Order: sequence, then structure tokens, then C-alpha cells
Amino acid sequence: MRMTVIGTGYVGTVHAACMADIGHQVLGIDIDAERIASLSAGRAPIHEDGLDELLARTVASGRLRFSTSLAEGAAFAGTHFMCVGTPQRPDSKAADLRYVDSVVDGLAPHLRPGTLIVGKSTVPVGTAARLAERLADMTPGTEVAWNPEFLREGSAVEDTMRPERLVVGVTSQHAEAVLRAIYAPMIAAGVPFFCTDPATAELVKVAANSFLATKISFINAMAEVCDAAGADASVLARAIGADSRIGPRFLAPGLGFGGSCFPKDIRAFAARAEEIGAGEAVAFLHEVDRINTRQRQRTVERARRLLGGSFTGRRIAVLGAAFKPGSDDVRDSPALVVAAALHQQGAEVRVHDPEAVDNARAVHPELTYALDVDKACEDADLVLHLTDWPEYQDIDPAALATLVRSPVLLDARNRLDPRSWAAAGWAVHAPGRPRLSPPVPSQAKVAALAGGAS
Ligand code: UDX
Repeated sequence: MRMTVIGTGYVGTVHAACMADIGHQVLGIDIDAERIASLSAGRAPIHEDGLDELLARTVASGRLRFSTSLAEGAAFAGTHFMCVGTPQRPDSKAADLRYVDSVVDGLAPHLRPGTLIVGKSTVPVGTAARLAERLADMTPGTEVAWNPEFLREGSAVEDTMRPERLVVGVTSQHAEAVLRAIYAPMIAAGVPFFCTDPATAELVKVAANSFLATKISFINAMAEVCDAAGADASVLARAIGADSRIGPRFLAPGLGFGGSCFPKDIRAFAARAEEIGAGEAVAFLHEVDRINTRQRQRTVERARRLLGGSFTGRRIAVLGAAFKPGSDDVRDSPALVVAAALHQQGAEVRVHDPEAVDNARAVHPELTYALDVDKACEDADLVLHLTDWPEYQDIDPAALATLVRSPVLLDARNRLDPRSWAAAGWAVHAPGRPRLSPPVPSQAKVAALAGGAS
């Protein structure tokens, strides 16, 4: 089948390449000519597992091409996936729909009757209906459907090729048939296909993200209570997560969520619910957001306490800058927000990240960046673990202890093994967990060390 994918950011690039890979003819469109040139040469604008190979393969096959022209897109296909950004508005918490609107306005004069526009962007409920109304005047016979995208950064290709579900919101059987045909290989492989109205489809996406964000903030709230009670939130999380109705995933007490989706999506959802008179129903999302932001502040405050009340003249090693492991994305990254706050309050901060240093430096040039963990930790008064990259679990705490000025670890992600760090001489602190100190040497060992065996 022929289709265009308009907007070649995260969602668009991955969607375009995956659709071409399953056999469709795809034209990717973006207003950014530089990006289009690089995509045409098979180079991905983002770092994503398997994407480079996929792009190279599909561009070489001739099934995937790129263009900057919406007119060319309208002539190329009768189905257009819209994958442009819907960031937070600068003046409020609502979503900024200017890119969605401008795609529709740009396409409208070129469309033929019977065209299907399929939105993939995360939008306020009612957007598809509003766009359909807008198009009705300009190009009668054009349908607007919604097909939200659930891909996670870091596993975007895998999530698109093997999604846990497909959700489409349509207003005609024709649109349903087109979307079933496009996703035929996935449906044949057993992926559940939910076909509903556009409003429900739009809501599925924000409801899913709100649920996950709530789960994370719930366990972080429990971690705060555990801190106050001297209880252990990690054990608590495992124990409640063992209940299959709750489940263990997205239940790690830590620094909270960030990235380009969760924070802005829950804010935009709350704002939209207010507009349609359902604000009270999702008022809890404001609390979810507050709990999440508070974890960043609590981490800074805890670091200050560990350093005796002041950051001045103190050196802090920060492990992690990306908003989550497996990504070089630093948008609303909790790690980077904490690192910048520490610096701003007088600490000498050295940041390490396996992938995100270039992006981090572009946003926070005032911070110092280290090429490896050892360099970041040299002479540190405190080591802060802020993004749970798997490689940080391979750190040898005993070797690292010889490099730092004082072996104090604040594991804000609760992912390092506290016992092995404590055994290597570290004082280990983590949210919602009682402090673990290095083991006290036995009397015999103390005597032996003092050279006074008796
Ligand atoms: C998310 C949704 O998962 C995806 O379906 C949607 O399409 C876009 O938003 P993504 O932003 O890539 O995807 O990240 P995800 O892996 O879901 O993690 C989001 C944030 O939650 C990260 O900052 C992560 O560190 C944090 N997180 C996750 C926690 O703080 N605790 C957890 O237990 C799990």
C-alpha cells in the first residue's frame, strides 16, 4: 500500500521505516530539508536500536523515499500518517497543536476526495473531530482517524514491529479496512487490534501514560513514607508487585519519570479535562506531577545533607544524564535537572553518561563532563547514581572507592547492589531505604590492623 508519513521525528522516522520494511511504499515528509537529505542518504536523525540498518535497507529497496513537499505527498498516496510533535505550550500546561494544524492546512489544498489522514501524535481528546471539521470546509470527503503510538525510546523499532496492541479510532468502515490492511502482518501475528471512535483512541494514549506515571509516582510516594518510617520501599515494591493485579513493572522507587512524553502528556491531559468539564476526575494527575518533581528536589536536599549542609567546594560525581537508560535523550531528564541544580548551588559537578553527553552539553554547557566513570568520580565527595544504565551495575565499588575522596553513594535509582557497595567500604543511601554502612570490622580484625595481636 502507499502512504506518507508526515513529520520525521522519533515516531515518524521509526513508523516510516517499519511500514516500508513490512512491504508498503512510503514517502516520509518533513519541513526540515537537512533532515530529509540525511534520511534520504539512509542516516537516522536519532539514535535507536536497529534503526540505522532498517533505514539503510528500506531506502535501498526503493520502498522508502523522503521529501519536503506536502503537495508531492498528496499526489503520492491517499493515506497520510501525521507524526508531528505536540509539545507543551510555552504559556500554559496545554498541548501546542500548531504543528498538527499546519500539516492539515498545508495538505488541504492538494487533497483529493476520499483521502484518509491518520494522526499518530498524542493530542487532546477531540482533536480528530476538530480537524475533520476544519477539513470539511476545505476538502469535503477527507476523513481524520487516530492511531496512537505507544513506542518507547530505546526500543522504538521493536515496539513498532511487535506492538502489544494496535488502537485505531475511525469514523468509517473504509478507514478501518485501510488500517487493517496496513497493519495486516501484525494482526496476523496475533497483535490485538482495537477499533473504536477517534475520541476513545485519543484517550487510550493519554490514559495509558497517565496510568504508568501514576504507578511511578505512587511507589515514589511510598518511598517517602518508608524514609519517614525507617522502612524499605524496595522490598515493599517487590512485595506489592508480586500481586499479579499490581505487577512489578514501573514500580521502582527512584528519581521519577522524565522524557518528552510522560510529564507533558499528563499536564496536557489535565488541562484538556478541565476544558471539557472533567477536571475534577483527573485532579490527581496534578499530585502525580508534584510527587514526581519532588523526587528531584529531595535528591538535591539529600545530597546537601550528606555533604554536611553545603555544596560549596564539594565535588559530586553524577552518573547518568539521559532521561532513562538506552537513550541519548535529555528532554526533561531528572538526572540533568538534579545535576544542574547541584552546580547552580555551588557544587563542582562532573557528569558521566554513556550516550547523552553531547545532548547534555548542548543544554547545560556550564557542567563538566567526564569521558568515563573513573574520571567523573576522581576525588568526589559524593557519587550520585541518577540514570540506571546497565553498565553502572558492572562498576567495581572497591576499585572506585580508591579514587574518591569519600566513599558515599546516593543511589537515586535504587538499582545498584547496596550490599556489595557497602562491603567495599561505601556508605550507601537510596530513596525509601534505610542507610547501609560499610561493615564494622570485627575486634580481631581491628587488633590485627593495629598490629597488636594478643
Ligand atoms: C513513554 C511510554 O512508555 C510510551 O508508551 C509512550 O509512547 C511515550 O512515553 P518513553 O518516554 O520512551 O515512553 O519512556 P519509558 O520507558 O516509558 O519511561 C518513562 C520514564 O519513566 C523514564 O524517565 C523512566 O526512567 C521512568 N521510570 C520508569 C521510572 O521512574 N520508574 C520506573 O519504575 C519506570
